[in-house]
Amino acid sequence: MSIPDDYSISRRGLLAGGAVSAAAATVAANPEAEVAPAKPVRRPPTARVSFEVNGTAHQLELDTRTTLLDALREHLRLTGTKKGCDHGQCGACTVIVDGRRINSCLSLAVQHDGDRITTIEGLGLPGKLHPMQEAFVTHDGYQCGYCTPGQICSAVAVLDEINAGIPSHVTANLTDAPKVTTRELRERMSGNICRCGAYSNIIDAITDVAGVKA
Ligand code: FES
Ligand code: FES
Repeated sequence: MSIPDDYSISRRGLLAGGAVSAAAATVAANPEAEVAPAKPVRRPPTARVSFEVNGTAHQLELDTRTTLLDALREHLRLTGTKKGCDHGQCGACTVIVDGRRINSCLSLAVQHDGDRITTIEGLGLPGKLHPMQEAFVTHDGYQCGYCTPGQICSAVAVLDEINAGIPSHVTANLTDAPKVTTRELRERMSGNICRCGAYSNIIDAITDVAGVKA
């Protein structure tokens, strides 16, 4: 897929255009003045990336600086994944890549060639919700909902991590396998910020899906 022209306007291109305008103004004021030829505008480097998103194969030609978050939202129109801070601090952009949750704003799309990506749309849709989505509804695990796609992707991956026996900071020094407890879940979900403060209900939703009383 080629990048639309409106995505290819770079800051460098704008500055070059401004320089040409300034040069034209100079010539108009002083026809004898010599004007250096404008340098050709260089397009940003692009690369082809192929990955699977929610079970569908995609091949994109992207500016190499494009984050996975922007590739999903701007190029594939999967806007369920949210941009909060764009700096790896809020977790709103969490998606699952090959079974691991990541902040998609911190990852370049071209790093994911061949990867299998799951976004909130791939977990479930209205009429066929994932059990974690249903639990968030049941337990009022959201208010404005902006953080919710990231919370749910994270929560699904957290239960997989615990089931796989992967330790967190809380359980790193224990010999027992990690268990679903409120403390464990709060620690593992600490990268997902909820400005509305729905944390208690989020923990209730996750423990409900885990089938335990935390
Ligand atoms: Fe990625 Fe905030 S938008 S962590
Ligand atoms: Fe509003 Fe979490 S529900 S930020």
